Amino acid sequence: MATNEDLFKKIISHSKEYGFVFPSSEIYDGLSAVYDYGPFGVELKNNIKAWWWKSMVQYHENIVGLDSAIFMHPTIWKASGHVDAFNDPMIDNKDSKKRYRADVLVEDHLQKIEDKIQKEVDKARTRFGETFDEQMYRTTNPRVKEYQDKIDALKTRFYASLEKNDLADVKALIEEAGIVCPVSGTKNWTEVRQFNLMFSTQMGSVNEDANEIFLRPETAQGVFVNFLNVQKSARMKIPFGIAQIGKAFRNEIVARQFLFRMREFEQMEMQYFVKPGEELEWFAYWKQERMRWHTSLGIPASKYRFHDHDKLAHYANAATDIEFEFPIGFKELEGIHSRTDFDLSAHQKFSGRKIQYFDTELNEGYVPYVVETSIGLDRTFLAVVSYAYREEKLEDGSERVVLSLPAILAPVKVAILPLIKKDGLPEKAREIMDVLKYRFRCFYEEKDTIGRRYRRMDAIGTPYCITIDHQTLQDNTVTLRDRDTMLQERIPVNEILAILNEKLSL
Ligand code: GAP
Repeated sequence: MATNEDLFKKIISHSKEYGFVFPSSEIYDGLSAVYDYGPFGVELKNNIKAWWWKSMVQYHENIVGLDSAIFMHPTIWKASGHVDAFNDPMIDNKDSKKRYRADVLVEDHLQKIEDKIQKEVDKARTRFGETFDEQMYRTTNPRVKEYQDKIDALKTRFYASLEKNDLADVKALIEEAGIVCPVSGTKNWTEVRQFNLMFSTQMGSVNEDANEIFLRPETAQGVFVNFLNVQKSARMKIPFGIAQIGKAFRNEIVARQFLFRMREFEQMEMQYFVKPGEELEWFAYWKQERMRWHTSLGIPASKYRFHDHDKLAHYANAATDIEFEFPIGFKELEGIHSRTDFDLSAHQKFSGRKIQYFDTELNEGYVPYVVETSIGLDRTFLAVVSYAYREEKLEDGSERVVLSLPAILAPVKVAILPLIKKDGLPEKAREIMDVLKYRFRCFYEEKDTIGRRYRRMDAIGTPYCITIDHQTLQDNTVTLRDRDTMLQERIPVNEILAILNEKLSL
C-alpha cells in the first residue's frame, strides 16, 4: 500500500501519462501552479461542470445562470473589500528559503494538537468500551483538557492578532508555539508580511491612460453587480439563485499541491438571494444540500466532513467548508458562506445606484441577503480522481491501474474494440460506433492486443468496453465488459443503446 505522498505523486504522473493534466508551458520548464487539461481531462472537467450545472440550474426552478466577464470595473474590487483585505499573511524560513502562509502554519500546528486529543479519546474508548462518555472524558481528563486549553488560547490570540493586523504578534506566537519549518526544521523566521492575492494588469492602449484592472479572484462579484439585470430580465422572485462557472485567479503564496492550489483555476458558484433574517435557515439548507450533491456521486460520506469557520471572512456571518479527504489529508473542497447584504450594499454605496428588491408581499423594498455555495472545479476534479485511482492485483498475478470514476463523469463512456484488425470486424465495429457516438462519448481502437486495450480503457476510467469478434458476424451479438468487475456478458447489437442508457444514467 502506497503512502499518501506516494499516492499523490502517482496520481500526478498518471494524470500526465493518460492525457488528463499537463503542467503548463512544460517545454519552457513549466509555470508554477498553472496546469493544462488534456484530451481526457477536459472531458472529465466538462462532465463535472455539466453535473453541477444540471443540479443547480436544471433541477431548481428558481436558480438561473450567468456568464459574466473576467475583466470588471476596478472599483468593484474596492467595494468588495478585496483591494484592502484579500491578503494572506506570509512568512519565510531563512534557512530553507521556503515561504509559508502564517495562518496555515498555525492551523497545521493546532491540528497536530487536535490529533493528540483524538488519540487519547480513541485509547479511552477502547479501554472503557460501551460505557465510554466522550463528552465527559473531553471535559474532565487532565491531559485532554490541557491540550484543549492550549488550542483555545492559541486560537484566541491568533485570530485577535490577525484582526488587529498585529503581524509582530503573529510572528511571536509562531516562535513561542515552537512551530518549525517542515523543510529545515528551524525556527529562523522572517517578519510576517501581508500579501495581496489579486493579479493586476493594464487596460487601455496608451500606458499613461491605462487603468489598472484586476483578474477576478472569485466569480461572485460578477453575479452581485448583475443582480438587478438578472432579477428583472428573468422575473425572479426571492428566494432565488444565480449560478456561474468561470475562471478565477489568485497569486497564491504557497502553490505546490498540484490542482489543489492553483494560480489560475475555475469556480462553480451559486449566490442565493434571500429575505434579511432568513439567511441562517438557508445557510443550513444549502449545507445539507451541497453535502447531498457530493455523496450523490457515489463517493462514501466518510470521505467528506464539515469544518465550521472560527474566523469569518470580512463579508460573512456564518461559514463552513466541506472538506474532502485528499491524499494530502482532509482539505477544503467547497465553501458555504452566509455573506449578509455586505456585497450588494457595498456596490450600492460605491456605484451610487440603488440595488434593492421590491417585495410585493411585504410591499416594501430591501437589500437581499446572500447565501453562497462556492466549489473549486479543479479541486473537485482532484477529489474525484484521487478517490477513483486504484492499483489492483489480479487473479492471474498481473496488475492493473483503474480509475473507478462515477460513470456520469467518465471522460469516455464506451470503447468500441474489434478483436482483430481484419475479417470484417473493424467494419462491423465502425457500424456500431456510428450509432453510439451520437449518444455517448465513444472511443474506437483497433491497435494492440485486446488485453492491452482493456488496460488503457481502465486507466482512463471508461466504464464499458464493447468487443466485436467473429461470433458478432454470425449472431449479431457483442461482449460488454464492465470496468470495475471485469465481467463480460454477451448482448445483442440492437440492444446496446438501451442497455448502456440504463447503465450510464445516475
Ligand atoms: N466566492 C467565495 C470564494 O471564492 P473561497 O473559499 O475563497 O470562496 C471557493 O473559494 C472555492 O474555490 C474553494 O473551496 C476551493 O475549492 C476553490 N479555490 C480557492 N482557491 C483555489 C486555488 N488557489 N486553487 C484551486 N481552487 C481554489
